[in-house]
Amino acid sequence: MCFKESKLFLLCFSLSITVSYGANTISANQSLSGNQTIISECEQFELGFFKPCNSSNYYIGIWYKKLNSNPPTIVWVANRETPISDRFRSQLKIIDGNLVLLNESKSLIWSTNVTTTLKSAIAVILDDGNLVLRDGSNSVEPVWQSFDHPTHTWLPAAKLGYNYKTKKSQVLTSWRSKHDPGVGLFSLELHPSTREYVIKWNGSQQYWTTGSWNGKSFDLIPQMSLTHKYDFSYHTNENESYLTYSPYDPSIISRFVLDVSGRIQRQSWSETTNEWNLIWFEPKSQCDVYALCGAFGSCKQFGLTFCHCLTGFKPRSENDWNQSDFSGGCVRKTDLQCGRNIEKPNFLMITVKNLPPNNSVAVWSVGECRTTCLNDCLCNAYSFVDNKCSFWNGDLLNLSEDNGNGNKIYIKVASKDLPRHNKSNLVNIGAVVGAVGGVICVLGLCLILIYRRKRIKVGKTTMEGLLVAFAYKDLQIATKNFSDKLGGGGFGQVFKGRLGDLSIVAVKKLESIRQGEKEFRNEVSTIGTIQHVNLVRLRGFCARGKNKLLVYNYMEHGSLDTHLFHGKQVLNWVTRYQIALGTARGLVYLHDKCRECIIHCDIKPENILLDVDFCPKIADFGLAKLVGRDFSRVLTTARGSIGYIAPEWLSGVAVTPKADVYSYGMMLFELVHGKRNSEGSQDSRSKYFPSLVANALKEGTDILSLVDTRLNREACVEQVTKICKVACWCIQDEEASRPTMSLVERILDGVSDVSMPPIPQIVTLFGENMGDSVFFTHSPSNGRSLVHSYSSGGGSQLKTASS
Ligand SMILES: *[C@@H]1O[C@H](CO)[C@@H](O)[C@H](O)[C@H]1NC(C)=O
Ligand SMILES: *[C@@H]1O[C@H](CO)[C@@H](O)[C@H](O)[C@H]1NC(C)=O
Ligand SMILES: *[C@@H]1O[C@H](CO)[C@@H](O)[C@H](O)[C@H]1NC(C)=O
Ligand SMILES: *[C@@H]1O[C@H](CO)[C@@H](O)[C@H](O)[C@H]1NC(C)=O
Ligand SMILES: *[C@@H]1O[C@H](CO)[C@@H](O)[C@H](O)[C@H]1NC(C)=O
Ligand SMILES: *[C@@H]1O[C@H](CO)[C@@H](O)[C@H](O)[C@H]1NC(C)=O
Ligand SMILES: *[C@@H]1O[C@H](CO)[C@@H](O)[C@H](O)[C@H]1NC(C)=O
Ligand SMILES: *[C@@H]1O[C@H](CO)[C@@H](O)[C@H](O)[C@H]1NC(C)=O
Ligand SMILES: *[C@@H]1O[C@H](CO)[C@@H](O)[C@H](O)[C@H]1NC(C)=O
Ligand SMILES: *[C@@H]1O[C@H](CO)[C@@H](O)[C@H](O)[C@H]1NC(C)=O
Repeated sequence: MCFKESKLFLLCFSLSITVSYGANTISANQSLSGNQTIISECEQFELGFFKPCNSSNYYIGIWYKKLNSNPPTIVWVANRETPISDRFRSQLKIIDGNLVLLNESKSLIWSTNVTTTLKSAIAVILDDGNLVLRDGSNSVEPVWQSFDHPTHTWLPAAKLGYNYKTKKSQVLTSWRSKHDPGVGLFSLELHPSTREYVIKWNGSQQYWTTGSWNGKSFDLIPQMSLTHKYDFSYHTNENESYLTYSPYDPSIISRFVLDVSGRIQRQSWSETTNEWNLIWFEPKSQCDVYALCGAFGSCKQFGLTFCHCLTGFKPRSENDWNQSDFSGGCVRKTDLQCGRNIEKPNFLMITVKNLPPNNSVAVWSVGECRTTCLNDCLCNAYSFVDNKCSFWNGDLLNLSEDNGNGNKIYIKVASKDLPRHNKSNLVNIGAVVGAVGGVICVLGLCLILIYRRKRIKVGKTTMEGLLVAFAYKDLQIATKNFSDKLGGGGFGQVFKGRLGDLSIVAVKKLESIRQGEKEFRNEVSTIGTIQHVNLVRLRGFCARGKNKLLVYNYMEHGSLDTHLFHGKQVLNWVTRYQIALGTARGLVYLHDKCRECIIHCDIKPENILLDVDFCPKIADFGLAKLVGRDFSRVLTTARGSIGYIAPEWLSGVAVTPKADVYSYGMMLFELVHGKRNSEGSQDSRSKYFPSLVANALKEGTDILSLVDTRLNREACVEQVTKICKVACWCIQDEEASRPTMSLVERILDGVSDVSMPPIPQIVTLFGENMGDSVFFTHSPSNGRSLVHSYSSGGGSQLKTASS
């Protein structure tokens, strides 16, 4: 349905006839200039001159007519590389069968460039956003169409593919920056031989691929087949291969954009907020975009901003950098003045995840390697790995600093730009610290040994390591024949008991342990050695035939869920923050500090116990191993764990500590909200709590209004914001995007900062499949990328914690 409005024809001062407002066609002898536009028949799209936000240049572009966005959302640009400055003296018109743009001095600066000469060519803007050039007398196939020359946007109905006959393809290319629609460094196209869609940097370095088409979806984006809202169809034959898509519901306005951040995004327009919702994007990790930070820039997934310059370097353009345009990279603060060395340059050591592609390789000693680089004016960096010396002569790209044990690379920097301490000192200090540490360790070991021996002598019951081996009968008496039940979990029921020394314990009766007694004892004594203030202490065990029991210290205040969801005692904010921090510390201990990394696999409020001071203690760690690694069985019996399981676990891949990080993140939301995440999302989909949080963070709206109402807004807004950001990071779909627990601990401790998180996939899936409620909005006009605008425009970056 479409109603044509009556058109108002303008009289023009120039001799040539100009285009009327509202017409959808430019025909021969007509021209478009100044603020004139043509509009598609049903008023979907409009074509005319536009000016990007902060630019003085004008371009011919196509934008949505109906959408109430300001500035308009541009979907196509004609003269990307050849802007004009005076739109009233420039003309878009048909000359010799081509649509051309003439600048102020009537020079041709852009053309459709077709060679077939049409008798009476016309250019028409269609309702799908396609600008076509065809013969006016008979409307057969167009000789040229903007759909074949896309810029950064792929619209529904447009083909994206490769023609094997003409060797022509449709390539999406990012804008150079949000103020410059010129051809940027990132491009997406179909690879003609592998038939995968790939994103490349500067036309060569590929950093993302869809994998190949399997009939339903691309191998590496299986969720494509899960979407009920879009019809994707992939066609391939000997002449061409291409993909098209269209929303099933024609009222949905949707588009794909290759953003300046190097990511392909799917966006949907929200009528209610008049903004674009980000539905999906790839790559998930911003630092996976090749060379995002340009030369000598380093990408950090968890920083204030993604990019920063290496020590001794500064942004090439501070203004671009401030607007999250990092492509210019970094330059030396001080030139090296090579050859005329007043002061010899020095080297800065950094550890990086991947060594960038290098220039030359040779086998030398490390000293020779260094000297050679020092004396070679072109050499910018060296590394010495496995007796191989590598040099980098050009710009260093795609650096991603890694504080762990990554690859060491030495960057040549002017001495005066290096931090003022010399290297030999550092080495000496390191040696001293090491020696002292060693002595302390040895002393500690001895003390432990002495202590252990004492305990074994003193203890009345049999001791096994630090654990008591209880007799079954004693536990029966202690628990009054297992009468006072405290609860039940995935591994068995728990009973309250009182030992002979009057101390109160919790006795867990393990169910279906398949292990033999010896194996069980070994496993349990391992768990017994794991002691930390934030882990429930195992006091002893009992292994008699089929009966396998564990004896723990009793926790006065029970489990966290009773306080959060069952109204036991409302925990104030300070306590909640301490619980978040304590739980993080406990997990850090399990993940990093034990001899063997222990993945808990079932972090949820039920497994966080509170002692008399409300200090949190993680329960049930290490038990997954006892039941024979059959996690799935544990999962199905563990009530209520479903909302805490990381997505990769469901897909059957090996579980890593990041699965605990995910569950921990889910729990943080509940700590803030005082309700289960699953509550509310059932009846009203728009109320899924993690979505509300992510939205509030992005919009910068009142975050305190989301906190458990029982607290009456009595909470520290900085801490709430921090916890919410951390929670959003923790539930990222990609394991690599989630922080480690030790980073979480540092953030909550106030040692590290936390940046604005990208939208967790689970939340976008809710937005996608569960109605049109708005979770994430993104105005393409004001942000070059959602994630970037998050990190740079976040505003509420936290510097210190007031815990
Ligand atoms: C365009 O202008 C030329 C000369 O001014 C004229 O010969 C021609 O008929 C015009 N064409 C149309 C379609 O008006
Ligand atoms: C278009 O430009 C003319 C000439 O400068 C101006 O008078 C008119 O108001 C403008 N129209 C709109 C809609 O901006
Ligand atoms: C707009 O551009 C100018 C000059 O390039 C710059 O000084 C200014 O900060 C920019 N403003 C915004 C909002 O980007
Ligand atoms: C118009 O384009 C020509 C060719 O690119 C250029 O030489 C000329 O300076 C441009 N005119 C103006 C006013 O920018
Ligand atoms: C048109 O073709 C010429 C020569 O083949 C080329 O230099 C120019 O870049 C082309 N212009 C466009 C807009 O494709
Ligand atoms: C992109 O590649 C071209 C050569 O293909 C090179 O000249 C140019 O410097 C590269 N751009 C960047 C930013 O490295
Ligand atoms: C491929 O192109 C040829 C010639 O242009 C045509 O005859 C043939 O039907 C096309 N094949 C398909 C599958 O469309
Ligand atoms: C670029 O860096 C990312 C992140 O560290 C890494 O995954 C990727 O393999 C690197 N690419 C190349 C070509 O080194
Ligand atoms: C960029 O941002 C920094 C810190 O926010 C500020 O000091 C600097 O003046 C900004 N530079 C430009 C050119 O906007
Ligand atoms: C340097 O590049 C060569 C091949 O070009 C490769 O074999 C070598 O491993 C690279 N060295 C480093 C340290 O990356």
